Amino acid sequence: MDNYKQVLSESLNEVEKYLFTTLSGHKIEEHVNSLCMHVVRSGGKRLRPRLALTAALALNANIKPEHMIEFAAAIEILHTATLIHDDVIDKAEVRRGESTINATDGNHVAVLAGDYMFTRCFLALQSLGSMKLFGAVNNAVSALVSGELKQLEKVGDLDLSFDDYENTIYCKTGALFEVAVTGLAVYTSQKAEIIEALALYGKKLGIGFQVVDDMLDYSSNSEHLGKTVGEDLADGRITLPLIIAYKSLEGARKEEFKNAVAQNNLDAVLSFIADTNALAQCKNYADKAIAEAQQALAVLPDTPYRQVLCDLASKAVNRSF
Ligand code: FPP
Ligand code: MG
Repeated sequence: MDNYKQVLSESLNEVEKYLFTTLSGHKIEEHVNSLCMHVVRSGGKRLRPRLALTAALALNANIKPEHMIEFAAAIEILHTATLIHDDVIDKAEVRRGESTINATDGNHVAVLAGDYMFTRCFLALQSLGSMKLFGAVNNAVSALVSGELKQLEKVGDLDLSFDDYENTIYCKTGALFEVAVTGLAVYTSQKAEIIEALALYGKKLGIGFQVVDDMLDYSSNSEHLGKTVGEDLADGRITLPLIIAYKSLEGARKEEFKNAVAQNNLDAVLSFIADTNALAQCKNYADKAIAEAQQALAVLPDTPYRQVLCDLASKAVNRSF
């Protein structure tokens, strides 16, 4: 195996070990520990810690390996916490092919389990001892919360503009990608142009990733996706496939579409999405964001890790992990 691949794969193994240790070494609540462990074990692509490690290695900075591991683990733990809370908000029963905590143990336990994961995230960050890094992660958490709030505010609103949609998905998804790839650059006080380039990469990657997530809710099946499809429509979340379909329709057809959305008629909505070619337009939107993410990498030193970041962006949009 090439040296850089080995470094990445060994580092990711260390992140896995960290995740399991941090959820078993703390005896505050055995049951919550085991519920969180179950969510972490249920898989996930580990895309965010992979990005955090690769971006750090691309900097050629002298970062202690244990600090890279702790930061990458903190990001994955934060991501897991947000999913646990998101499943409460979305009343989701299945994720990664497994029952959610809210489905098995109820909303109260799920909220507390997410909060508990949050403490594990900040414990991991504490080991790096950097207020600057704490601040960066804190800002990302604020953005995540505001993204979820923006989304709630616009439930059922088909007049949502592209800008509002993009801003919401940047906050709820892009901000976490952004801090994953900039965190250790901030920690090691890299030049502003490097931090800004990584921030743009993370932001655009997150936007492309979420657009694809929103497409899959209308194009995949639950078994393949490991979560229930059609949930966005059922919860009144207006995402890009609906925005594009609505903008493309006129007159009576527009009204029919509006009614189908309001009545949660998935079959009718799917046929409007097909008629307006909305999914192909979504794919173009995602591809454009990914191309912008990749272009932003040009200012980084030319290393194999920069190429891995570029490849990860393509994989994120094609979901080929
Ligand atoms: C998934 O979106 C949800 C997110 C990307 C962000 C969730 C953020 C919060 C609940 C707020 C912050 C919480 C903490 C602990 C700080 P989705 O519902 O579109 O995707 P899905 O189909 O995977 O559920
Ligand atoms: Mg959800």
